[in-house]
Amino acid sequence: MSPRTADTAVAVHPLLAERWSPRSFDTAHELGDEQLVALLEAARWAPSARNTQPWRFLVGRRGDTTYKRIFEALVPGNQLWAGTSSALIAAVAAELPDGGEPHHGSAYDTGLAVAQLSVQAHALGLHAHQMGGFDAEALRTGLGVPAGARPLSVTAVGVLAEADLLPDDLRDRETAARARRPLVETFFADGWGKPLAVDLDG
Ligand SMILES: Cc1cc2nc3c(=O)[nH]c(=O)nc-3n(C[C@H](O)[C@H](O)[C@H](O)COP(=O)(O)O)c2cc1C
Repeated sequence: MSPRTADTAVAVHPLLAERWSPRSFDTAHELGDEQLVALLEAARWAPSARNTQPWRFLVGRRGDTTYKRIFEALVPGNQLWAGTSSALIAAVAAELPDGGEPHHGSAYDTGLAVAQLSVQAHALGLHAHQMGGFDAEALRTGLGVPAGARPLSVTAVGVLAEADLLPDDLRDRETAARARRPLVETFFADGWGKPLAVDLDG
């Protein structure tokens, strides 16, 4: 078990327990078509309200123009590390589907699609790191995202590299313990704030 594996009260699927968001990626790795399409299929087959599939993705591989434009839209703190990834994938929610009613759940659905992509990445031996730190207008302008479509996140995907390759402060974050709010502060029953009672031995 890796020191980065989630510390869970009971076992969960290794794909979920071992997924994490690194900053150090192998610059020698190139994402082939088969791996890339597997990621995109995992996203495409996500559930969505009324099967509206409100997500669209802009997909760049290191070295191509789309990657460059997505990278340029990242905030400086993310540019420090994200350029080592093999792919940068921008998730965009179509809030006004063609001819349809405004889709207020489009962000929820698009997040689900990205979650599936990130778990598929892990299943392929890759790692994914989502980012909200980017300039949505720069992305919109750079890649022609139309009105009614909202850029939500950028996901860096690649092969994990040594934390030692990062600058000092990023290396510290890369190796810091992973943490989550306790179960009892997160899952309620019988009213808000009242911890769900579970018997882990039963
Ligand atoms: C919507 C979203 C936005 C995020 N934005 C950033 C970001 O801009 N920069 C960054 O380094 N990490 C970002 N993250 C990664 C989170 O910081 C990370 O998922 C969280 O700390 C938990 O770590 P883990 O994924 O390794 O479990 C983002 C994650 C999500 C889901």
